Amino acid sequence: MEELKSQIDKDNLPEHIAVIMDGNGRWAKEQGKPRVFGHKNGVKAVREISEAAAEIGVKYLTLYAFSTENWNRPTLEVNTLMRLLVDTIHREVKTLNENNIRLKAIGDLSKLPSETRKALLKGIENTKNNTRMDLILALNYSGRWDILKAVKTIAMDSRNGAIDVNAIDEEYFKSALSTSNFPDPELMIRTSGESRLSNFLLWELSYAEFHFLPIYWPDFRKQHLYESLLSYQNRERRFGMTSEQIS
Ligand code: FPP
Repeated sequence: MEELKSQIDKDNLPEHIAVIMDGNGRWAKEQGKPRVFGHKNGVKAVREISEAAAEIGVKYLTLYAFSTENWNRPTLEVNTLMRLLVDTIHREVKTLNENNIRLKAIGDLSKLPSETRKALLKGIENTKNNTRMDLILALNYSGRWDILKAVKTIAMDSRNGAIDVNAIDEEYFKSALSTSNFPDPELMIRTSGESRLSNFLLWELSYAEFHFLPIYWPDFRKQHLYESLLSYQNRERRFGMTSEQIS
């Protein structure tokens, strides 16, 4: 594993990595266990990726923890996930502070159970002075929700005369998204073998490199982050230009 890590070029790291943590349910099912068993073990993987990303020098890590569509899951599963968040935040705040990691969240937090929201806001408050990496939880989040919210904000700005329609550019649009304080991710990782975006960071991932891993999320370890980073570094990001223009 150290060998893999030593191959990573520290001067060519993505500043921001976005992750779709997929496959908890299937991981549990394969062992004849209930789906929530998979989520509980997914927390270990959250710890692994957060530690590994901060250690190597990534500045922002966004984890898709709960989508706006996830409310449609069985009540027991939704409740367990919400409870797991509370417990995890309470348990991990000390470690986040020791590692100088700042907790952040994106999504419609107003719809979360009040206990979950409170734990989250407290975690955010108690880590707000940390500077090594932002750990951003996407909770009750979806890309379309965020884009619609931004459109409404901008429509109001326009109606109030705060912005001229012709002056609305990409930068202005981005400033109305819940990710306005974070740079766009250069790398998106999804586990479980599915190759979909599932309504995650639709605006922000426009130019990101995608890395799909065949493993289930609870099996994610530091070495998988190193593999993803090496794959990222072996690609040529052209942004619509030609190879010659890049070099
Ligand atoms: C996807 O697997 C996973 C989720 C919807 C929840 C992710 C939550 C955690 C890892 C635990 C809590 C997180 C934090 C940040 C403390 P799935 O259930 O869709 O799996 P399946 O596709 O196999 O059914």
